[in-house]
Amino acid sequence: MCKNTKIRRNRQAAGFRYKRNLPCIFLKITYIINYRHKIMAFPILTPQEAADIIKNGDNIGLSGFTAAGTPKVVTEALAAKAEKEHAEGRPFKVNIFSGASTNDHVDGALARANAIGTRTPYQSCPDLRKRINTHDAHYFDLHLSELAQKVRYGTFGDIDVAIIEAARVSDNGEILLGTGVGMSPTVAHLAKKIIIELNEAIPETIEGLHDIYMPLDPPYRREIPIYKPSDRIGTTLLKVDPAKIVGVVRTNLTDGVHGFSPLDETTQMIGNNVCNFLIHELRRGAIPPSFLPLQSGVGNVANAVLFGLGESNEVPAFDMYTEVIQDAVVDLMEHGKCRFASTCSLTFSDAKMAEVFNNIDFFRDKILIRPGEISNSPEIVRRLGVITMNTALEADIFGNINSTHVVGTKMMNGIGGSGDFTRNAYISIFSCPSVAKGGLISTIGPMVSHLDHSEHSVDVLITDQGVADLRGKDPVQRAETIIENCVNPDYKELLWDYLRMGKGGQTPHSLNAALAFHTTFASEGDMRKTDWAKFA
Ligand code: COA
Repeated sequence: MCKNTKIRRNRQAAGFRYKRNLPCIFLKITYIINYRHKIMAFPILTPQEAADIIKNGDNIGLSGFTAAGTPKVVTEALAAKAEKEHAEGRPFKVNIFSGASTNDHVDGALARANAIGTRTPYQSCPDLRKRINTHDAHYFDLHLSELAQKVRYGTFGDIDVAIIEAARVSDNGEILLGTGVGMSPTVAHLAKKIIIELNEAIPETIEGLHDIYMPLDPPYRREIPIYKPSDRIGTTLLKVDPAKIVGVVRTNLTDGVHGFSPLDETTQMIGNNVCNFLIHELRRGAIPPSFLPLQSGVGNVANAVLFGLGESNEVPAFDMYTEVIQDAVVDLMEHGKCRFASTCSLTFSDAKMAEVFNNIDFFRDKILIRPGEISNSPEIVRRLGVITMNTALEADIFGNINSTHVVGTKMMNGIGGSGDFTRNAYISIFSCPSVAKGGLISTIGPMVSHLDHSEHSVDVLITDQGVADLRGKDPVQRAETIIENCVNPDYKELLWDYLRMGKGGQTPHSLNAALAFHTTFASEGDMRKTDWAKFA
């Protein structure tokens, strides 16, 4: 591109009305007005030009956390480039490091193009899931709080390119990030090259919501000085070396998060059970009267719990120390029930996002968006006494949890932040419906088919059937409590029989039969057909 064309493009991107014959003074005024808010120093690229910077085998770091704040156009162009390369017989795959899950523009597009080599730390994309389960993509799911430090130590090699979504970038390298932070500080700091996606759909009034902080790494790490969820410890802008910014791609796309479906009966029952448990703990003084900060996972159950807490007159206004806030939290804030939320992203539906930014002065002192290693920091979770609420795919009668693998083999999403919070919680709650697939699967069995959270990290299990408080109980007492309170009636007798079959020991498994629910589902398509006599 010749120099004049480049200057013209930069000026156009800066909001210039490029009209050659206008008096110079007008151009100067326009320049000054736009300079503060737009880009001048960096080449303006098309998504394709940006994708051409990325090479086969590159390690790419992304901004964002869930769809919030995640880049939206360069990876689509990269997927198209990969398809072209494959069609011409050349290999083309990149390795993607993100804060958490991304969006269809990243994981979806790249997976469909079979352009992902290695992926970490979390995903929730059906197309990528298929690639992972067929070994087309190498995926290792990791506690979200751990990735930034491991990347800084060089565990996975260099970060070649960072793609950072921004509401604004200044010539001196100050970036106003979007709705999710994730790994942005670390990947922008380490990357050899930075591509900015400058997204006009992000209101600049987001400025002031971010709290950007990168801890020193061991052995120089000091405590992270957060003593209550609202403590601000970092900066509002992310500062990078401007010399590394190789180009800016302009976009105008919302995060595209969908709203929630209305609560079904099962979800509602789980939500009520969680609320009633917390109220019971509050009444008996096991939770202090001022309450404790909450972490809640994503999805309909989390939404139902928050809705229930909002409705309860007994639960006082509370804070959240969590990795994602969803639409329900906005409503709780508007009703004075949630005072403050420390998060890594605003994962709001487009309609809710607009509502928040139309009323940003109300929310400004109620939200901080932080990097994942801070929002999910085990140190802070333990210090603040966070009550954690996460979802299981399956549990076993002794209190072990599988959050990730469908019937023990197929990756669903990943462990995400559940381990960061669970292991360090004041009270760690897991919930799930008591059955899946219309009752063909019991989510509670003799032994989990894959282990993510052991009995040592699980305080309470809650299903639509009821609550099993596992604290202070030995393995058999835990099993009795879970079978009695949480198991679906269709499976209760089967599990009582299993417990009776146990061959002694503190945790009385019958090892031949421990996975019989799963093998029966594989052969019969229905766990209810389990016949213990065949496994004796
Ligand atoms: N065996 C087989 N399939 C099961 C199952 C089981 N025990 N339990 C659920 N499923 C199936 C459901 O039938 C459903 O299938 P479908 O998509 O074909 O309808 C699917 O798994 C999802 O189940 P659902 O009940 O809708 O789960 P969810 O959306 O609430 O997600 C997790 C549950 C566990 C997958 C999700 O919470 C997760 O990924 N957790 C790990 C990460 C995490 O906890 N992060 C926390 C911080 S945000």
